[in-house]
Amino acid sequence: MYKINENYLKLQGSYLFSNIAKKVAAFKSENPDKEVISLGIGDVTQPLCPAVIEAMHKAVDEMANAETFHGYAPDLGYEFLRSAIRKNDYLARGVDIALDEIFISDGAKSDSGNIGDIFSKDNRIAVCDPVYPVYVDTNVMAGRTGEFVKATESWSNVIYMPCTKETNFAPELPKETPDIIYLCFPNNPTGSTITKDELQKWVDYANQVGAVIIYDAAYEAYISEDNVPHTIYECEGAKTCAIELRSFSKNAGFTGTRLGFTVIPKELESNGTKLNALWARRHGTKFNGAPYIIQRAGEAVYTEAGKVQTKEQVAYYMNNAKTIIEGLKSAGYSVSGGVNAPYVWLETPNGMSSWEFFDYLLANANIVGTPGSGFGPSGEGYFRLTAFGTYENTLKAIERIKNL
Ligand code: MLT
Repeated sequence: MYKINENYLKLQGSYLFSNIAKKVAAFKSENPDKEVISLGIGDVTQPLCPAVIEAMHKAVDEMANAETFHGYAPDLGYEFLRSAIRKNDYLARGVDIALDEIFISDGAKSDSGNIGDIFSKDNRIAVCDPVYPVYVDTNVMAGRTGEFVKATESWSNVIYMPCTKETNFAPELPKETPDIIYLCFPNNPTGSTITKDELQKWVDYANQVGAVIIYDAAYEAYISEDNVPHTIYECEGAKTCAIELRSFSKNAGFTGTRLGFTVIPKELESNGTKLNALWARRHGTKFNGAPYIIQRAGEAVYTEAGKVQTKEQVAYYMNNAKTIIEGLKSAGYSVSGGVNAPYVWLETPNGMSSWEFFDYLLANANIVGTPGSGFGPSGEGYFRLTAFGTYENTLKAIERIKNL
């Protein structure tokens, strides 16, 4: 008789954004006349930029001819894309990452879940609280988190690093020693970030205690301040302790076309075993590559036209963030984030819980946001709004909130 992976039975409810989608679908079917605006899941609304579309069309045509057709992609991804990444995301920032340290994938969400494959079940993870739920849920699936403790809404074997107003929504070094540390900067969900000097402390700490940092830099294109690092490898010693996850979803609008990459430096070793070699083995065995057409589209993001056009998209969303922040502040809300990230983090008014505010906002303003408590216990009493809507909807949503 076969057995299932019982760790799945420990998962709490459904995935946060699936849960919200179900609630919204129910509201819409009961209120078909209401115009619901979603500032919930961080899904982009602007079309792929012309440089990307042009590259995709060209690649589609190539697929129509035997001479230019492409079958399986190389294990690590096409060299043209890895070269563009190496040159623009790393060399341009003074960081030398080798081509075979870059692994092309279908996005940072899958990589952040899959990366656990190369680590023993016996590792103890540390996560920010609140946190992007994928880091925790995928570790629950792997059996690394212990039991769920209802009273504290937390997992018994996870080290939580509270990111609160008191800590400027940044984590402090944990008191207990973790093996795997998940960091995401600019941060999802709080929109906060840390300076290069602050990140250096994490790198030094990880090297000192022998921990590995899984560094999710999916929102790096949104950084507007000079002292915020774009890659963890800007920090001294990061190559011996950090894996970096990157995405094309938020900087170039690829949420529906799926493309990302993971960097694993060859210096990163556990007892003489290179993590790069383990991931290469895993990648080659379980993944058959992002499609050629999409990798060509990714390459186009790094052309001169692509850079200008994607920068315009980022500026468009950051203007939304500014609109949200200014509007909420004028309505008396306490807000943070939205300066180096497309997320605005607000305190729920009148002592409402995060889910109470979710229901209130949906029922009274027909706006969908994300309850802070869905990201972890320290998110209770907070709410996340995304800047990824259209400008018109963002403006309309803020007017509705002001009129509540
Ligand atoms: C979010 O809303 O947190 C993100 O869009 C989810 C994701 O990137 O998977």
